[in-house]
Amino acid sequence: MHERFRYRDADEIIGKAKELGFDLPFSYDLTPLLDPLTIDGFSIQNRFVVQPMEGYDSAHDGSPSALTKRRYLRYAEGGSGIIWFEATAVSEDGRSNPGQLMITGNNIDSFKSLVSETRITASKNGFKPLLVVQLTHSGRYSKPEGKPQPKVASLNPILDKTEPYVLSDNDLLRIQDQYIASAKLAEEAGFNAIDIKACHGYLIVESLSAKERNDSNYGGANPFSRFRFMLEILDRIREEVPGMMLTTRLNISDCYKGGFGVDKNDQPDFTEPMLLVEELLKRDIWLINISMGSPYFNPHVTRPFDTPVPGSPVPDEHPLNGVMRMIGSTSLFQKRFPEINFAGSAYSYLRQFALNVGAAVVKNSEASFIGFGRNSFAYPSMPADIIRFGEADPSKFCIACSGCTRLISNLRHGGCVIRDREIYDTELKKLFADGK
Ligand SMILES: Cc1cc2nc3c(=O)[nH]c(=O)nc-3n(C[C@H](O)[C@H](O)[C@H](O)COP(=O)(O)O)c2cc1C
Ligand code: SF4
Repeated sequence: MHERFRYRDADEIIGKAKELGFDLPFSYDLTPLLDPLTIDGFSIQNRFVVQPMEGYDSAHDGSPSALTKRRYLRYAEGGSGIIWFEATAVSEDGRSNPGQLMITGNNIDSFKSLVSETRITASKNGFKPLLVVQLTHSGRYSKPEGKPQPKVASLNPILDKTEPYVLSDNDLLRIQDQYIASAKLAEEAGFNAIDIKACHGYLIVESLSAKERNDSNYGGANPFSRFRFMLEILDRIREEVPGMMLTTRLNISDCYKGGFGVDKNDQPDFTEPMLLVEELLKRDIWLINISMGSPYFNPHVTRPFDTPVPGSPVPDEHPLNGVMRMIGSTSLFQKRFPEINFAGSAYSYLRQFALNVGAAVVKNSEASFIGFGRNSFAYPSMPADIIRFGEADPSKFCIACSGCTRLISNLRHGGCVIRDREIYDTELKKLFADGK
């Protein structure tokens, strides 16, 4: 049963997990989170990752706005070892909303300045984060002008609300070219690494499950045919943008019928995701950011919460179930592929205990990095507080209220309505004024 968070101390949260049948990893020693780690020759200062979090606040041409910049400068001061920049579209028609970042030849200077100011701010604070950019095509969830314009690799009756446009192989080849062009621009902008986003229902993860796509080079029963679209993009970037670190944010299970990484009963089945990771390993991918589920279909899987967005149902599982699904599944991959560094997701629901849980996960080699999404909106300086003072302030953590999701679902600028009220409470009030 779903329950709101009400755990005042370690015993209470560990006890609740036990009651649900879980052994919650827990360490009072937080130092594993501060261990440096070298990947592909880049020395990463600690195990904290700012997860990609869209703010829906780019300028019309896809360039970062003053509000976008503010977000990244807050992260830069915050001390996370990796700052994973939010979803950045490779084409206008692949944007999930009119405020989604998009990197183009015309706005490259704005990205150069965003990256350089992020680095300078981090450096002034004694930090040197790895800067990853997440390249995406929104596929089924494309909404470049605020209205759905779905484009898919194959149909899925449980997801398709209107009849989407099914992309031809030629369309997919054109989209591959857009990824390569964006990757070149990302290098020019100064990012350290490129994430070929393969999660949350967007085009690439959707292509990985395109079993019904017949007479195509990019689909059908054979998983390697379905992997081809993604792997060709990675191979071409390797060749055409040599020297760039490559990574992916990968859904290891969509947890819905017809999705990637599910069995006949729609439960997680990692056979194909493991095969894919073997292919990624052959391509010298040393960093993978794990996620699961879809914010559009089963948001409690992607981000366990206390309160759903108004109008959405309360899930019938306890949020700790969602946290443990992500931790346990990530751990299976980390143990199976110890050469690769996996970043785990969905820690924000745990509030201050996320640090104890994350430290135990790293100590037990169940993940190399601990990612924070919503909590990075709420408390971007959490890592710096731990580095400087040895502890974080429990009153500053995210409370998993879904306020930020509520904003972006209504195409408003996204941020924390609780801990960053000055800007985002005003956004919420505008929403109320519109009767939403
Ligand atoms: C407002 C909002 C924006 C998000 N934007 C992205 C994104 O751009 N790319 C992505 O991979 N995930 C995105 N996510 C998912 C988060 O990165 C993260 O996986 C999720 O919130 C669970 O982690 P948490 O419990 O630390 O919040 C977003 C989530 C929210 C709530
Ligand atoms: S609005 Fe703030 S407190 Fe609420 S879920 Fe988003 S980041 Fe967390």
